[in-house]
Amino acid sequence: MAQILAGQHILLCVGGGIAAYKALELVRRLREAGAQVQVAMTAGAQQFVTPLSFQALSGQPTRTSLWDHAAEQAMGHLELARWADRVVVAPATADLLARLAGGHADDLVSTLCLATDAPLTVCPAMNHRMWLNPATQTNVETLRQRGVQVVGPEDGPLAEGESGPGRLSEPEHIVAALAGTALPARPSLPLHGLKVVVSAGPTYEDLDPVRYLGNRSSGKMGFAIADGAARRGGEVVLVAGPVHLPTPAGVARVDVRSAAQMREAVFAAFPADIYIGAAAVADYTPRQPAANKIKKSSESLGLDLVRTPDILSEVAARTEGRLKLVVGFAAETENVAGYARGKLQAKRLDMIVANRVGIEGGGFESDSNAMTAYWPDGERAFASAPKTQLADELIDLIVERLQA
Ligand code: PMT
Repeated sequence: MAQILAGQHILLCVGGGIAAYKALELVRRLREAGAQVQVAMTAGAQQFVTPLSFQALSGQPTRTSLWDHAAEQAMGHLELARWADRVVVAPATADLLARLAGGHADDLVSTLCLATDAPLTVCPAMNHRMWLNPATQTNVETLRQRGVQVVGPEDGPLAEGESGPGRLSEPEHIVAALAGTALPARPSLPLHGLKVVVSAGPTYEDLDPVRYLGNRSSGKMGFAIADGAARRGGEVVLVAGPVHLPTPAGVARVDVRSAAQMREAVFAAFPADIYIGAAAVADYTPRQPAANKIKKSSESLGLDLVRTPDILSEVAARTEGRLKLVVGFAAETENVAGYARGKLQAKRLDMIVANRVGIEGGGFESDSNAMTAYWPDGERAFASAPKTQLADELIDLIVERLQA
């Protein structure tokens, strides 16, 4: 299936109706469409399907209660409500629709729906007489007027042997309806109205038509940062070196190869408010790449290399259209804090994020990392965690520093 929901964070709230079993298929379809899915269930839903089934399909723990201390410690319900780019309620029973219309917050699902400012989609499913009851119709109309997207119900045979409008929409119809509505701008998000330029990945400096000087950056850290910034409402331009990663949702991507091309693309994206230099830019490039393949004619080979432009220093030194925040990265194998603080000062940055490279489980290529952010009068350490999580935490810090 096409990745029509690529990178979107979808919180699926499952209500207590027989159609809950179809929500399992919906999880599968949402993931096939490229979304990350977390599931919350009402108590009623758990009478029909087990949380474990959703966990197996979503690859994430299923949330079932407001009062689960372990789950709250991992990701509090308010954090989960913030995590979501969209909240989908399927099946939405008559009772759940009434509680959403009434603004209740007396269980996990109703609280999440009230606490999120992500767009809400409800997919009703119930007996056709309950659907056609004026009370339900009024509740649905109330939700519609608040901007809630209503998908279905579809007409056809119902569980009780009757027929009429009340069937949960087919999962592929729900996915198509979600893909057909762009995520609206959310002024409440902290980076709303700000343009963020992120560099990511390595650069390749060509030696001849077949060889290049490169490095081990995979782009994972920079792509996660671009994703985190877009989900917090930023208008994000991602200048990416040669990597094979999908473009995060809502991010404008510019692919480049060399340090010189990266510099050009970064400056072409300005004016901007924030620059985050997560790319591992080559420090040296061949003075003159050979026009033809270099032949192995002697025992050793010297390379004539010249310095590349330091993009980060140039961005920080801009006086015209000065950015609100310039954030660099420092990849070090030793004396991490010392070198990072040195670069913070020498490059006149607002912040530098130092990480140790050349180690297992962190730095280049790995899915996780550990890092410390330094700014002129402070620092914050981020313990080892997935790069996606670190990126979110870093964006939170950037928002704090913007407001400092
Ligand atoms: O991509 P991954 O596999 O996920 O790995 C992530 C990472 C380790 C690449 C990333 O976390 C990181 O540390 N990126 C910066 C790597 C780097 O080039 O560090 P540096 O200390 O050599 O450079 C310092 C800063 O100057 C960086 O922000 C870099 O983007 C910038 N720079 C460097 C040289 C240059 N010519 N222009 C620059 O803008």
